[in-house]
Amino acid sequence: MKRPFIIAVDGPAASGKGTIASGLAQAFDLPMLDTGLLYRAVGVLLARHGGDFDDVEAAARVARELTPEMLTDPAFRTREAGEAASRVAIHPPVRAALRKLQQVFAHRPGGAVIDGRDIGTVIAPDAPAKLFVTAAPEVRAERRFKQLKAQGEPVTFEDILADIRKRDARDGGRADSPMVQADDAVLLDTSQMTIDQAADAARRIVEAARARWEQDPG
Ligand code: DC
Repeated sequence: MKRPFIIAVDGPAASGKGTIASGLAQAFDLPMLDTGLLYRAVGVLLARHGGDFDDVEAAARVARELTPEMLTDPAFRTREAGEAASRVAIHPPVRAALRKLQQVFAHRPGGAVIDGRDIGTVIAPDAPAKLFVTAAPEVRAERRFKQLKAQGEPVTFEDILADIRKRDARDGGRADSPMVQADDAVLLDTSQMTIDQAADAARRIVEAARARWEQDPG
C-alpha cells in the first residue's frame, strides 16, 4: 500500500515551526495538527482541575480524556500554557496517552502536516518529508516576545529568553528527551531568515521530498 505523504515538522519552542507547518499545509493542501496544543491542553486542563504538574497519573488521565474538539480554547496559546505543557510533557504516560491520536492523524490516507518535537522520530518515523526547524535562542525569544505582546500579554524580552532557555533544557536536555532531530530530517536554521524566507525554504525542501515520494511511494 502507498505510504501516505506525511510532513513531519519538529523543532524547539518558538522556532517558527508552527508558521512553517501552516504554510506547508496550505501549499500542499493537507490537514495540519499542532501537537504542542495537545500538551498545552493537558497542562491547562490539569491546572484548572486543581492538579499538580508533577502528578503523573492525574496528568495522564487528562491526556487520555483529551479529544481534538477540546483544542480550540485560546487559553492554550498563552505563555503560561506553554510552561504548563512543557511540565506535563516530560511524563512518559502523558506522551503515551497522546501518541495514538497523533499517529492516527498523521497516517490518514490523504497525508497530513504534523508539527511538534518527536514527530519524525516517534509519531511518524516513516514520514516521507521531515524538517527540523531551529533558530538561535535570542531570535526565537524576539519572535515569541512580539507574538505574546500582540496577544496583550504583559511580558519582557528577558523573561521570554529565560523561558526559552528553560524550555530547551526541559524538552531536549535528557537522554530520553523527546526533542531530537531524526537522522533523515533536513535541518532548517531560520536565524537569519524572515518568516517568509523560512516558509519558502521549507516548501522547497518538501517539494524535493514529494518528488522522491512520487517516484517511490514505499
Ligand atoms: O510547540 P509548543 O510551544 O506549543 O509546545 C509546548 C510544549 O509541549 C513544549 O515545551 C514541549 C511540549 N511538546 C512535546 O513535548 N512534544 C510535542 N510533540 C509537542 C510539544
